[in-house]
Amino acid sequence: MRRELVCTEAGTPPRLTVRSVELPHPGTGHVLVRAQATTVNPIDAKRAAGYGRRLLGLKGAARFPLALGNDVAGVVEAIGAGVTRFTRGQRVFGLLGTGRAGSAHASHVVVPQDLLLAAPHDADPTALAVLPYSFTTMWLALRSAGITPSSAKGARVLIHGASGGLGRLAMQVLRPWGSEITAICGSGQRQASLDLGAQVAVERGPGCIESLRSDFDVVLNFANWDDDARLASCLGTSAMGQATTVHPLLANFDRLGWIRGAWASRRDYRHVRSIVASRAPKASYVWTIFKTDRGALEALAEGVESGRLALPIGIAVPFDNAIAAFDHVSAGQPGRAVLLP
Ligand SMILES: NC(=O)c1ccc[n+]([C@@H]2O[C@H](COP(=O)([O-])OP(=O)(O)OC[C@H]3O[C@@H](n4cnc5c(N)ncnc54)[C@H](OP(=O)(O)O)[C@@H]3O)[C@@H](O)[C@H]2O)c1
Repeated sequence: MRRELVCTEAGTPPRLTVRSVELPHPGTGHVLVRAQATTVNPIDAKRAAGYGRRLLGLKGAARFPLALGNDVAGVVEAIGAGVTRFTRGQRVFGLLGTGRAGSAHASHVVVPQDLLLAAPHDADPTALAVLPYSFTTMWLALRSAGITPSSAKGARVLIHGASGGLGRLAMQVLRPWGSEITAICGSGQRQASLDLGAQVAVERGPGCIESLRSDFDVVLNFANWDDDARLASCLGTSAMGQATTVHPLLANFDRLGWIRGAWASRRDYRHVRSIVASRAPKASYVWTIFKTDRGALEALAEGVESGRLALPIGIAVPFDNAIAAFDHVSAGQPGRAVLLP
């Protein structure tokens, strides 16, 4: 049987239960993974409370009882027809898309082979499970803001939310690429940001964004939508772009319905877009939305293999105590939250 963690109804705190269902069979090109670890990401904690019910509902990803989770690390239990990359017993980690692909908060997860990576020898599944979703989102943000290994060299990059998961991973990628990083971080996190590769780190607080230089090539907002317009004012005239993962798209539709939600989102996007364009005519401005991406996974594999990528673990608990992991994330406690199925 497969044990899966589900939210029975939308609520705060989450209404969680563990149920047993038939063990799934991997179809063509798919792999059945016996999960050793999976992650509660910020999006899971929000979705458990009903966040994204309209837009994610279009993908079949908002109906309760709702199974959550995108990350998995474990051992290959069975392979479907046509699977060439993996064999039974192999240790792997990887990613599920959001929607009809299923959920990763389960003892067994069926994953397309393209979204799986071989785990490095002796790597800890807990350490691997916290990476795929966050890394992929961060990678998509970098790309949409125009950063590539060649354009990153010498680029002045401002990261808001540098002490969080996406921020830390961005620094771990950008530092070896030669970017000049300025980090806006939480209280008491300044030294950690410098240690991770920021040249300049400031703790957030009133006036902190205004006090920064205004010639950044790239701005990454992983922290707070309310700061997006002020961050755009930090771009220089030859900037490459700004990407934000904390846009109000899903919340607007939840709050205002289809028509007013679409109107509000267009207004919000255009407001910041106009500031970006006035600062830097050629700069892109993108609201990053997670999706699976093979290129991101290949970059993740390389980063893990070289030992460059890691996130601190804040809590690791079995399914029976999953509520503690959700609480950890909702309270913004430091470190990632891991479930051990
Ligand atoms: N659009 C998408 O598809 C997508 C995908 C993945 C993630 N996200 C979102 O992107 C954000 C970053 O993800 P993550 O995994 O890095 O989250 P995380 O680990 O919780 O980090 C969030 C960071 O933002 C800071 N922060 C939180 N609230 C803030 C506020 N009101 N003002 C300023 N800074 C604030 C935190 O500071 P402290 O360190 O002081 O707590 C932390 O550094 C999350 O909001 C997440 O939901 C969106």
